[in-house]
Amino acid sequence: MAIIIDGKTIAGKKREEAASRTAALKKKGVTPCLAVVLAGEDPASVSYVTAKEKALLEAGMESRDIRLPAAVSEEELLALVNSLNRDVSVHGILVQLPLPAHIREDRVITAIDPAKDVDGFHPVSVGNLILGRPGFIPCTPNGVLALLEEMRIPTAGAHAVVVGRSNIVGRPLANLLVRKEINATVTVCHTGSGDLGLYTRQADILIAAAGKPGLITADMVKEGAAVIDVGVNRVPDTSAKKGFRLKGDADFDTVAEKASYITPVPGGVGPMTIAMLLLNVVSAAENSV
Ligand code: GUN
Repeated sequence: MAIIIDGKTIAGKKREEAASRTAALKKKGVTPCLAVVLAGEDPASVSYVTAKEKALLEAGMESRDIRLPAAVSEEELLALVNSLNRDVSVHGILVQLPLPAHIREDRVITAIDPAKDVDGFHPVSVGNLILGRPGFIPCTPNGVLALLEEMRIPTAGAHAVVVGRSNIVGRPLANLLVRKEINATVTVCHTGSGDLGLYTRQADILIAAAGKPGLITADMVKEGAAVIDVGVNRVPDTSAKKGFRLKGDADFDTVAEKASYITPVPGGVGPMTIAMLLLNVVSAAENSV
């Protein structure tokens, strides 16, 4: 039976670090501030954004909440981003994704000043990440690395298999795992990979980031592998108050029998994403002084 990785507790430590660095900055007269922009009312996005705003306040930071109607135009959103770029009291800018379909995400992400790109989605941040240069690292991949480090799961020489190639998780994570200081051998699987199990069964570290509930079943996992489940899927559940529950990309109960480590959903990677965001916001504020 796998050790269940307690993401909430590990995230708590990171949040304490963010809070103490925030307190030090406040003594210098700087309060770290993140502008959080949400266009529309996608229920999952509303819940993520609310959690981020609450965490910022708990760490002593400022959250500038900007809610826009789903019908907001691309030009209006770009104008907003430009004004936030110029606002010296704003250290970080987070535009919650996905954006409404009529807005080109690329244009909006590219409009953000890389110095305020605490999501690490700007092409400059992505380039720096791939080159191993300093820059903002996307929060979810950085949270996954922090979990591996905290649990002392060896990465050097390990075969890490990443399932999913999204710009938010799979791609940046694969690039981080091949860095010299991590030194994993990385395979990236995606919808074109055919027999997924053929690859996942070779993983010492299996990272499920496909956004498909229960995709990873026990037969796809090598005995003793560490399984990091990045999936946060809403599945219908009539017994739940909200009518749904959260399920990861791994079939938790059966995979936990075989793995050495596993992250639960919720309570695994999710809390780490927010904690790493707080650390990126503090870094942005520290860089500004
Ligand atoms: N949508 C899902 N995850 C994220 C994230 O980490 N940042 C932003 N901006 N949008 C997201």
